[in-house]
Amino acid sequence: MSVPYELSVNGHAHQVEDSWLGESLLFVLRERLGLTGSKVGCEQGECGSCSVLVDGVLVCACLVLAASAVDAEVTTIEALGDDVLTDVQAAFVSEGGVQCGFCTPGLVMAVHDLLDRNPAPGPLEVREAVSGNLCRCTGYGRVLAAVEAAVSTRASRS
Ligand code: FES
Repeated sequence: MSVPYELSVNGHAHQVEDSWLGESLLFVLRERLGLTGSKVGCEQGECGSCSVLVDGVLVCACLVLAASAVDAEVTTIEALGDDVLTDVQAAFVSEGGVQCGFCTPGLVMAVHDLLDRNPAPGPLEVREAVSGNLCRCTGYGRVLAAVEAAVSTRASRS
């Protein structure tokens, strides 16, 4: 069944036409709206590569029906760092937390979510926050270093 609906993504209203109501938010973001920053990984909510915010809550877009996000605000990686990297993105680059980069959008979303809620997380809180994001390249050491660097940057600004 196909019914047109509207999604608010990164502050912009998008008309979704000819969409089967069972399509995931990830599919609609990528294939219908052209927002390909959220990556298709496991499609089972295990790898975190498709992490987005729905009304400020971090979710795996592969597990959310797009039509259920009507009336919600969806925030994707495209909302961050248009021309200039965010502090978290810059920390991932400077600390070597980006290798193949497939996991990076999801990790960046998860770390922004963490630091926006808690600007000074402890080591266990950081590990818990990124525990839903699988990375095959970095061994996580560089990811944790990037989070530490981003925390330091924020602390030095306040
Ligand atoms: Fe390659 Fe994380 S940098 S999967």
